Amino acid sequence: MLVEIFPDYETLSERAYEIVATLIRRKPNCVLGFATGSTPLGLYRRLVEGYRRGELDFSKVVTFNLDEYVGLPPSHPQSYHHFMWENLFQHININPSNVHLPNGMVDDIEVHCDWYEEQIRRAGGIDLQILGIGPNGHLAFNEPGSSLGSRTRIKTLSQATRRANARFFGSEEAVPRHAITMGIGTIMEARRLLLLASGRAKARAVRAMLEGPISAMVSATIVQLHRYAHVLLDAEAASELAYNHHDGISEPFDVH
Ligand code: F6R
Repeated sequence: MLVEIFPDYETLSERAYEIVATLIRRKPNCVLGFATGSTPLGLYRRLVEGYRRGELDFSKVVTFNLDEYVGLPPSHPQSYHHFMWENLFQHININPSNVHLPNGMVDDIEVHCDWYEEQIRRAGGIDLQILGIGPNGHLAFNEPGSSLGSRTRIKTLSQATRRANARFFGSEEAVPRHAITMGIGTIMEARRLLLLASGRAKARAVRAMLEGPISAMVSATIVQLHRYAHVLLDAEAASELAYNHHDGISEPFDVH
């Protein structure tokens, strides 16, 4: 595992950009896994700027998002579909048919989840999965207690997650109760993981992820088992770590 700690969110986002931009340049048809939420916004802003400067070409890039709320149509301002178009896709030359997000409006969620997994397989698997971490240690919407071998499926959101996301909906009541999410098993099949965490609210979850025992109660701890997990933290998110992860720093692994 490679852990890098940055003074602040902007330097963390700059590093995330370097990593993603390098992959896109080396492998123009790469398959990227995207996350939503506040944390990757600095990265997405930089990807848009990189495209505008002519540094990046997304025309062959294929994308899969981690999750989507059940019951929100793609046009809903809080749907993750809308979030991705608003913050990234509409500003770059991505081919819309290369963009994949779970659809929270389908009748048969089980069939849809199997189809989503099949699309990932057909694309050749995910080269680099971008991840955030919830204050409760969730990865995507794999809430505490999620099977560490889980696949894409419907999950009930925990109260903690609905509380954390109430800021986007105006109230906790308005946050949907269910989401479709890639499973932990699905995420672990990505060739590389790039997990970003910023701010003091994440410090306990980050400590549990990096220094705690692997447990289904903190799904992010599974990254300890991934061969190419790269974790970028700002100083606040790293503030509860006991071990000095800089001691163990190695050269960033190469694209493969
Ligand atoms: C979003 C997702 C979530 C977030 C996590 C952190 O697609 O899968 O796991 O990454 O809840 O959210 P932020 O970045 O808003 O703190």
